[in-house]
Amino acid sequence: MRFILGLIGVVFAAILLISMIGGLATHFQTPAAALAAEKLHEEPKHLRLASDGPFGKFDKQQLQRGFQVYSEVCSACHSMNLVAFHDLEGLGYNEAEIKKIASDWKTQVPSINPDTGEATGRKALPSDNFPSPFANETAARAANNNALPPDFADHQGA
Ligand code: HEC
Repeated sequence: MRFILGLIGVVFAAILLISMIGGLATHFQTPAAALAAEKLHEEPKHLRLASDGPFGKFDKQQLQRGFQVYSEVCSACHSMNLVAFHDLEGLGYNEAEIKKIASDWKTQVPSINPDTGEATGRKALPSDNFPSPFANETAARAANNNALPPDFADHQGA
């Protein structure tokens, strides 16, 4: 009887050990899910572009596609504190287009309600700089696993 109980104990311990090893194996074989920021920052393929080299040049469509990527993707996390909407003239947009880009911008410019004095937001104007997507550094870090998305213009943070 003692022997049989001992045997059951050994078998039980062996099964426990096997299931633990199995669990460990899946733990190491299944990689952790990638963060949104990691996905977006995968090394891009090198492309041959007209802008390569000392005599390279940009064409208007190329510049505007770049801005489209910024406005649709990167601007959700990265600010451009030192660049104003009217600077988009340099990318070939005209005054009316810039006005529309500014007023359609998804992040509003922080403002004060003149009647109540409370903090509010207003639509951007061509003379405004691109507004930061986050209220402050703490908010930016809280949304990004404690990493601070650097500003694209001044490298001082979100
Ligand atoms: C989901 C938020 C998010 C989006 C969207 C995003 N980024 Fe970032 N980015 C980050 C964070 C957070 C960091 C800082 C990472 C760190 O400090 O480890 C970062 C860092 C960077 C850096 C600095 C890398 C370095 O080594 O210093 C560059 C350049 C950059 N991002 C470019 C882009 C571009 C271009 C896009 C659009 C295609 C983009 N990011 C979209 C969150 C984002």
